[in-house]
Amino acid sequence: MPFGSRESPNKNSKFGISHGSPHSGVCLATPAPAKSYWMRIATESKPIEQIAAGALVVPVFEGVKETRFGAGDLVDAGEITGKFGELTLLHHPAGLAAQRVLLAGAGKQEQFDGPAARKLAGIATRFLKARSVKDVCFATDPVLAEPVVEGAILANFDPDRYRTGNDRKSVDAISVTGSPEAAERGRVIAEAQNLTRELVNEPANRLFPRQLAEAAMKMAAAHGLECDVLNQGQIAALGMGALLGVAQGSAEPPCLIVVRYKPAEPSGTHHLGLVGKGVTFDTGGISIKPAEGMEKMKYDMAGGASMIGAMQAIAHLKPKIPVSAFIPAVENMPGSRAQRPGDIVTTMSGKTVEVINTDAEGRLILADALTYARRQGCTHLVDAATLTGAIVVALGHLNVGLFSNDDAMRDRILAAARAEGERMWPMPLEDDYKDYLKSAFADLANVGGRWGGAVTAAMFLKEFAEDTPWVHLDIAGTAWIDDEKPKSPLSKGPSGVPVRTLIRLAMDWAG
Ligand code: BES
Ligand code: MN
Ligand code: ZN
Repeated sequence: MPFGSRESPNKNSKFGISHGSPHSGVCLATPAPAKSYWMRIATESKPIEQIAAGALVVPVFEGVKETRFGAGDLVDAGEITGKFGELTLLHHPAGLAAQRVLLAGAGKQEQFDGPAARKLAGIATRFLKARSVKDVCFATDPVLAEPVVEGAILANFDPDRYRTGNDRKSVDAISVTGSPEAAERGRVIAEAQNLTRELVNEPANRLFPRQLAEAAMKMAAAHGLECDVLNQGQIAALGMGALLGVAQGSAEPPCLIVVRYKPAEPSGTHHLGLVGKGVTFDTGGISIKPAEGMEKMKYDMAGGASMIGAMQAIAHLKPKIPVSAFIPAVENMPGSRAQRPGDIVTTMSGKTVEVINTDAEGRLILADALTYARRQGCTHLVDAATLTGAIVVALGHLNVGLFSNDDAMRDRILAAARAEGERMWPMPLEDDYKDYLKSAFADLANVGGRWGGAVTAAMFLKEFAEDTPWVHLDIAGTAWIDDEKPKSPLSKGPSGVPVRTLIRLAMDWAG
């Protein structure tokens, strides 16, 4: 496990043992449970009667009468309608080798696409795992094997790894009709998304910038990617004053994590840069946040963790475009060294920023990371960040807020997001919004006043993307699921959005 189990460089110091102390890396080693979402995956081609599973999941469509498994009577009685998400569990179905059949309402047949299949497989998996079913076979259309495998693996993730006891439930094995290649792609993508969720879920006393970097290095080493971690001295030498300013209130040093994928034979001259906000905990700094709900701010590194997850899948799926990830990692803390409202910092780009509010830290660290990514030769940029509460006001928890300086780039991402069932909504970003960020003392202020907070935050980033085609994804409302609905494909906790969109963006890139 990447977290809390590595040796600290100061493990011999007298301060080096206490759990959760500053000077990171010094956590008690966590006994590493097997990743609860890991499962065996097989493909199945036997006739349905001969499949010996704990449960056989069979989709039922609206208006298509299912007469097998003795279900005809239930259809006639109106108990089975095929409405999406409706679940009917039949025990010891006559004539079948399987112990149970789960008839899974799949909605209208013509609308049953990849995203619907993923969701239904997830709902079915969570339902069955709660009933201690250990092996599940999905009797779904072979063309949907990839999203079905994804749905099952994503549903097998739970956020309670620090709960002790052995009552944790998980599905151990699935089989699916379809090609082994498609099932394998599904595994790679879902495990990447679950890696992101695992990282986001780590509490901030176990995952400091340093542990996020170690997780990236471990992932890169295991999957054949390059990884460099720039330390505080290197960050200073590059002139990243905005990143340093946010970091200076914490005893934990910042770092800039860089992960690189290079295709064997690149096609074209493009180079995709993925920039992710890696604030391992956001107290707000001197502009401190209220106590209520502050515990959730451990997820303020979800953008960075999304890039680490996406890179893991990219290493396997090998798109033709080079992809590099850049994750500025810091902890935003108050303290005697912390930056103050009114401080003026000089960014790597040379632009100066007046820090009006130390809680608007994400845009500060991303500013320097965007500049660095451009100077590293990225021709196209996507950033993901839990950037503003204002995007949650605007879009709720259903859509990622999408901002861009380039129509073609925006359309690429929207297409990828739609194909992956990750909802995103385009937001405005006209240059007129720049007036909101005026400062009397520096080139820019880091906040834009009361109104349009998500837009002014994006506008701030746009100043640092400059003329590079760029998309900003504000995932503050979508990276964390607060309310677990009874029939949900995912648990409460980190969602792993927008990992699948990023993977598909790289895979579908042409030119
Ligand atoms: N990490 C927060 C944004 C956030 C808020 C994410 C709520 C998830 C839920 C970010 O760093 C922040 O504090 N933003 C401020 C900006 C403000 C000071 C202009 C905000 O949204 O309140
Ligand atoms: Mn903040
Ligand atoms: Zn933040």
